[in-house]
Amino acid sequence: MEEELKRLGQEAETELNQVADEAELEPYRVKYLGRKGMLSTVMRQLGQVPKEDRPRLGQRANEIKRHVEELFDIKTAELTAGSAIQLQQEDLSLPGRILPTGKLHPVTQVMEEICGIFEGMGFAVAEGPDVELDYYNFAALNIPEHHPARDMHDTFYVSDSILLRTHTSPMQARIMENLDPPLRYIAPGKVYRCDSDITHTPMFHQVEGFLVDHKVSFADLKGVLTSFTQRMFKDDIALRFRPSFFPFTEPSAEVDIACVICGGSGCRVCKRTGWLEILGAGLIDPEVMKMVGYDPDTYSGFAFGLGVERIAMLKYGIDDIRLFYENDLRFLEQF
Ligand code: PHE
Repeated sequence: MEEELKRLGQEAETELNQVADEAELEPYRVKYLGRKGMLSTVMRQLGQVPKEDRPRLGQRANEIKRHVEELFDIKTAELTAGSAIQLQQEDLSLPGRILPTGKLHPVTQVMEEICGIFEGMGFAVAEGPDVELDYYNFAALNIPEHHPARDMHDTFYVSDSILLRTHTSPMQARIMENLDPPLRYIAPGKVYRCDSDITHTPMFHQVEGFLVDHKVSFADLKGVLTSFTQRMFKDDIALRFRPSFFPFTEPSAEVDIACVICGGSGCRVCKRTGWLEILGAGLIDPEVMKMVGYDPDTYSGFAFGLGVERIAMLKYGIDDIRLFYENDLRFLEQF
């Protein structure tokens, strides 16, 4: 037994010296050191040797096993260090493979930027339905049946009393009807009009905003919109309020910014006027206040609605709104 142990130890050592690469390590370990390996098999035979020899032989067997294990560990370290060197030679500084990732649509990016600016001024965000009641889209906004302003909206009707909202203004009525002032809300979302050319698509996006409180004036509206355009475009951008008409605001204005292309001297984009229209706004009409149950002598407010695609086009110098909806990656990947 003692002889056999000695011979096995030597054999294990010799064979370990012949192990030349990582792949041979595991078969070697199984053959000599595994649970069913040669060393274990010999040790299991200890039960058959005379009692008085057992402690000595057992100790000897353990020493040999431990010795082979140590040599095996050293060999393993040597061979795996070799493969680390090989890895280094493969130039780990090369850039990795970049997986394709999706991005937000440019319209979504601009919409989030717009909302972010107003949220920074304390406005809360609310969203409403695209399929809207005629009542909120028109009647509650002081546009009764047969009012000529309905013609301007090129409405998609679902039924006599249900339509695709033509603007985000119905959210003014929906929110005011449910809550008491003071209110400060923006409502981003999709709107629909039966219209299609280089500046119109049948679906586009608006961000509605409104504020109701005691003694809200046109000066407050100007202040909020000036801060917004400065943050959206640039700090020293010129702004112009042009008198206009909306049935749900009085007085009403359309707001222009100095042309971002020519800086105001006149070009093709601003049709030589030097100005670009970016939104409609005004003080909320007392009739609208009454319809949602507010006393117009106690409260006043302003509202505005801006076109998201329009702002995105001006910001990025895009001259055809339809590009947003063609899903051409060469266009979308630029944002
Ligand atoms: N809803 C109007 C439009 O779509 C814009 C607007 C909103 C005007 C709020 C005044 C106040 O043209």
